[in-house]
Amino acid sequence: MIRGLLFDLDGVLVNTNPLHYQAWKELAEELGIPFTPKDHEAFLGVSRAQCLELLLQKGNQSFSPQEKARLCGRKNDRYRELIGGLTPAALLPGVPEFLKAARAEGYRIGLGSVSKNAGFILEKLKITAFFDAVIDGTGILSGKPDPEVFLKGAQALGLLPEQCVVFEDSAAGIEAAHRGGMKAVGIGTPQRLPAAELTIPGFAGLTPAVLLSKLV
Ligand code: BG6
Ligand code: MG
Repeated sequence: MIRGLLFDLDGVLVNTNPLHYQAWKELAEELGIPFTPKDHEAFLGVSRAQCLELLLQKGNQSFSPQEKARLCGRKNDRYRELIGGLTPAALLPGVPEFLKAARAEGYRIGLGSVSKNAGFILEKLKITAFFDAVIDGTGILSGKPDPEVFLKGAQALGLLPEQCVVFEDSAAGIEAAHRGGMKAVGIGTPQRLPAAELTIPGFAGLTPAVLLSKLV
């Protein structure tokens, strides 16, 4: 029986993916590396350092570890500028209602994000109090598709992996859920996330009870 809901953050609760894209795009331009929204697909769910590796691979460029740390820092400074103005209005449609319904229905709620900015964003969106556990990029060693973030999330909720469902917008995150022994609900289209057990365009009009009845 499902007792816990583990949510990814970027692209699931809030539409920050375009802001990540913009910050990477600006860095890519400085480095003279072509970068399109299609290239950014592979960055979803992937840690900041790993995203930089993907970008440098694409541009066939190499830097020292110190220079890479500086480049990651520049990207993040720009991203922090872009997310500085987030308010609860940035929550994706239906998200606050879904989280409220999840509490009312007695589910334990966890965040499983590889972002190191997750705590800051939850505060900006004023949804920190919904979460019984927050696992983010500051508390893990391996990003998705490694299952670490979700396994730690289940553990922090006091549940077994099979008692949890993951909500994810990235292929890497769906794979992480599966490798952790959890089912995954994809936020997006079945074409983009074919491995998810169920795909929804978003949370509007849904409650956990209704949604999970379609999962079995
Ligand atoms: C994920 C995003 O949620 O967080 C990735 O999907 C991003 O695109 C990753 O690279 C790390 O985020 P941050 O905020 O730590 O740079
Ligand atoms: Mg995401």
